[in-house]
Amino acid sequence: LSIILIVTTLSAMLTGCGDSSKKDSVTLTVAHVLNETHPYHLAWTEVAKLVEERTDGAMRIEVFANGVLGNERDIIEGMQLGIVDISCMSTGALASFSPSFMALDLPFLFDSRENAYKVLDSEIGREMLDDLSDHMMVGIDFWENGFRDVSNSKRDVLVPEDLKGLKLRTLENELQMGTFTTLGANAIPMAWGEVYTALQQGTIDGQENPLATIYLNKIHEVTTHISLTEHFYAAAPVVMSKKTYDKLSPENQKVLVEAIQEVTDYERQISAQSDVDYLEALKADGVKIIEDIDKELWREACQPVYDKYKDQIGEDLLQRIQEKMNGKR
Ligand code: MLT
Repeated sequence: LSIILIVTTLSAMLTGCGDSSKKDSVTLTVAHVLNETHPYHLAWTEVAKLVEERTDGAMRIEVFANGVLGNERDIIEGMQLGIVDISCMSTGALASFSPSFMALDLPFLFDSRENAYKVLDSEIGREMLDDLSDHMMVGIDFWENGFRDVSNSKRDVLVPEDLKGLKLRTLENELQMGTFTTLGANAIPMAWGEVYTALQQGTIDGQENPLATIYLNKIHEVTTHISLTEHFYAAAPVVMSKKTYDKLSPENQKVLVEAIQEVTDYERQISAQSDVDYLEALKADGVKIIEDIDKELWREACQPVYDKYKDQIGEDLLQRIQEKMNGKR
């Protein structure tokens, strides 16, 4: 958190950011942990352009990538304090603050992006975003990081048994850790910023992330096998500090929210396309890709996770999610 404070203070000194007394000009700080070529960042660049155009430069957005303002927990705490303005991030991190997102961390919940969008873009997703207001945040929309795949440097992981004993980094999220423990791995929660070095030094044998994140962060330099498990669909809620939101004029709130919601389709499209593009790129770089994953087998192996968390998540919510996917509501 101290890094955030130093960087945002410096940034504020340089740009006049967050100065609500300068009513006609505001610069908002966006923070995320992935890099400048990731769909998150490309989408933020687009939002920044729209916002600046539509306010004649009176509202600007400055995007800090690569976790320079801290890991996802720091960013969330920063938003609660009002020293980071906006972010998009894994539900893995957010669910520890706002448990309504927990259902989205269930393994093999969504078998396609279309099914995920049916739920996230419905009143179910809206309720999850609205619950953030109890935690000093404002939920705006759902972008995505995509389907997560396991990568490791030890062996072909084809069936859940192949995870036995693998030291696998997970998000700092009880349900996601529990999923990998259930599957037999030695689950090690860790902030994203530490993962490359931990793999390099052999503190962990593997990790799990979408192909774009693996490729763009050069995780394939330090893990040799990727299994296309697609075990979690990583929704990425776009979240704003409530303190910042409340300080904006109603006009600026509208411009900002509309710009983010307009960019959602673009972010999802480039994320989906990146699965195709980076699969080819990873193959071309000589990474061993394990493609023939029997998802039904994996889903069955994850059943204890559903049994364990169904009361906490709420059977009613789980049923509503199923019905939404089946087009019943
Ligand atoms: C991570 O593994 O930490 C995530 O990919 C970060 C994110 O989803 O934002």
